[in-house]
This record gives sequence, C-alpha cells and structure tokens, in this order.
Amino acid sequence: MIHVNVYEKWWIGLTTLMLVVFGTAVGVSAFMGGIQVPIPEARIDPRTVAADPKFKDGSLQMLAPGKYVAYVRAQASPWKFFPEKIEVPLNSTVTFYVTSGDVQHGFRIDGTNINVMILPGQVSKMTAKFDKAGEFPFVCHEYCGVGHQNMFGKVIVK
Ligand code: CUA
Repeated sequence: MIHVNVYEKWWIGLTTLMLVVFGTAVGVSAFMGGIQVPIPEARIDPRTVAADPKFKDGSLQMLAPGKYVAYVRAQASPWKFFPEKIEVPLNSTVTFYVTSGDVQHGFRIDGTNINVMILPGQVSKMTAKFDKAGEFPFVCHEYCGVGHQNMFGKVIVK
C-alpha cells in the first residue's frame, strides 16, 4: 500500500468535502432557485432586428391566462430596452426572448431568476414566475458604452 502523509490525507479529505459542498450548492440553486441556463433559442440578424415586428418596440403577448411571452430588444445609442415597462397580472409566468440590435448587453431582473447576457445575433430564452405583486426593476449589467447606466426598466406585477 502507498504511504500517504497525514497532512496530505487531510487535504484530500478537505478538497473532497469542498467538492461535495459546491456540488450541493449548484444542485440547490438549480432546482430550488429555478436557475436556468439561458437557451439560445434562435439566430436573428442584429442589423434588421429593429424592424422586426416583435422586437421593434418590444412586445408582450398573452398565450393563455397567466401565461405570457415578452420580446425584449436591447439597443446602444439610444441605450434603451424596448420595452422599458412590462406589465403582467399577479401569478403570471413570463417567458422572455431577448436580443440585441448592436453590441453585447446584459439583462437582470431584480428578485427573479432572470440574469443573462444579451448577444447580438442570438435570441435567448428564459422563464420566470411572478408570484409577488410589485415592481421588479431590470438593468443592463454588461458595460455597453457611454449610455450604459441609462439602460433600465421594470416589470410591474399587479
Ligand atoms: Cu446595455 Cu450596458
């Protein structure tokens, strides 16, 4: 049998324990916190996305009572989200489709599991359930130019 130094045994034990703790943390956040890997749902031409009927001003569609899809476009110059305000009733499930008309942006909605990079040319898809009434601000969290700090909006749940 190989002789393993006692300190080395401790380190092996400690690193194994850390792997178990990290693995558990990932599992808990994925299944209990609803963390999703944003799905690249489709490709879209960033040069023409501003003319796309769903993404031009952004849009919200009701699929069924309590079930919505929101189309969100991020744009640098004039550094805005389209739309800047999304209003849904309490207990709605909203699937977001987000894309960019130019550079890389971010999209994070406070108090939800939505946190994604917005890439030009790609439509990313994520779903959130809004079971608390109130305002949920969203921001661009990826530096995208001199107007970056002006990119924000909110989801209003009534
Ligand atoms: Cu868009 Cu920062």
